Amino acid sequence: MKKHEIVENIKVDKLIFWGKGLGLAPDGKKIIIGGGVIPGSVINLRILKDRKNYYEAQMLEEVVKSPLEQPLPAHFQVYGGCKWLPINHDDQLRIKTEQVKEAFNYLKDYVVDATFHPIIASPEIYGYRNKVEFSWWKYISAREEVHDEFRFWFHKQGEFDRIIDCSFCVLADDETNSIFKEVNTFSRNSWITTYDPKSQIGFWRHFVVRKAKFTWEIMLIFSVNDAYLNSSESIEFQKIFSDFVANLTKKYPNIKSVYYLKNNGKADIVTWEFELVFWQKTITEKLLGKSFEINPKSFFQTNSLGAEKLYSEVLNLIGTEKRGLALDLYAGTGTIWIMLADRFNKVYSVELVKEASLDWEKNAKLNKANNIEFVNAKVEDFLKNFIKKETGLENIRPVSEVDLLVIDPPRDGMHPDTLPSIIAFDSETIIYVSCNPATLARDLDFIVKNSTYKITDVIPVDMFPHTHHIETIVKLVK
Ligand SMILES: C[S@@+](CC[C@H](N)C(=O)[O-])C[C@H]1O[C@@H](n2cnc3c(N)ncnc32)[C@H](O)[C@@H]1O
Repeated sequence: MKKHEIVENIKVDKLIFWGKGLGLAPDGKKIIIGGGVIPGSVINLRILKDRKNYYEAQMLEEVVKSPLEQPLPAHFQVYGGCKWLPINHDDQLRIKTEQVKEAFNYLKDYVVDATFHPIIASPEIYGYRNKVEFSWWKYISAREEVHDEFRFWFHKQGEFDRIIDCSFCVLADDETNSIFKEVNTFSRNSWITTYDPKSQIGFWRHFVVRKAKFTWEIMLIFSVNDAYLNSSESIEFQKIFSDFVANLTKKYPNIKSVYYLKNNGKADIVTWEFELVFWQKTITEKLLGKSFEINPKSFFQTNSLGAEKLYSEVLNLIGTEKRGLALDLYAGTGTIWIMLADRFNKVYSVELVKEASLDWEKNAKLNKANNIEFVNAKVEDFLKNFIKKETGLENIRPVSEVDLLVIDPPRDGMHPDTLPSIIAFDSETIIYVSCNPATLARDLDFIVKNSTYKITDVIPVDMFPHTHHIETIVKLVK
């Protein structure tokens, strides 16, 4: 079969990794299928690449529904961010467990004595997200030149230039949905146009709602192209827009913070030029009794209740005995090191993106954690320097005194240069938290084959119901 060829009636046998399906082509070669397929369904697809042992393909349409698919309530709509919505939630948990087991198959000789724990479910399966990003888009499809001036919703799965126009997001809570509706109506009724990346003309770009699940505090971020507003009529609009925002904050008293994000760049990404226009710079979230200030740039786990489950499991695996030194690698906002602080004398927290941890000192103070040092560096550079004791950091300890490594890398896993350094630390325990079972298995394979570490526990955690995403916690001990 050739590139671009359309193949009909292919059964999706199972999901393998990263939400992709596996099928069999008429010529007997495997097909790896993207585009949000559901196991058990029969689909038509387009071949994207002809690899040596398999084809890569994109789903075009479903011809026969999977027995796993359920009818949805009328107001539920499926888009890229919740493509597993038609799958019964128990089946979702089973499929995710199978994906993690499949990745660990690769390591089967090294996990015979490990405990594979049952998957931990998210406490909420609807309305669980504490951050939702909506997009205005000028086209229903830019490729097909189909216009709708004020389309305002999510990108369609696998098609960056397509927007699905919904009126309700099943992953956002009721208050977030109502605020979205108000903003949607306001923007549609304004005479200010949506940003067009082709001409770079237009105003509305993105709208982000962050809502702390435990304090209910809300932050709104309006991402707009303010370069568009330089005419005299714009002065009138700016006044109307400010009044709208002021009324919104009165109607929804949980809104504690509003930012304009002046985004004049061509790229369709949320860039970082923020102007605070209402009240607080940050909102506060609480997890397991600890407080975290979140600024508009902070990375924060998007399912707060699920994050509590995840961190509880990490803490259980670490134990309560007070120990010396811990390294929290790929630290993000520092949620893990705040949790670890009272179980260790000293914690180093390493994060590449400075803005991700802007409030680390405040968060440390807020939680009375004065034994933490934030290091803004690439993990790979930090580890090499730490091992050579050349960091210049005060009170540096011999490498052999590191008691715990917590590793929580992005989906690509760890940089290959980092893995030998991880082993060189010879720490008593390693906890690896991963959002991608495939790179997790790859990195563990290196560690267990080149050291005396043993995998003792594997815990899948479903932080993102109705998506293919799965977190896995692994404990290794020497
Ligand atoms: C999955 S998040 C970690 C989240 C954090 N542990 C938490 O629980 O909130 C991965 C983090 O790694 C950071 N990162 C990516 N590559 C890095 C590198 N080479 N060195 C240090 N940090 C990196 C990202 O900026 C991101 O904050």
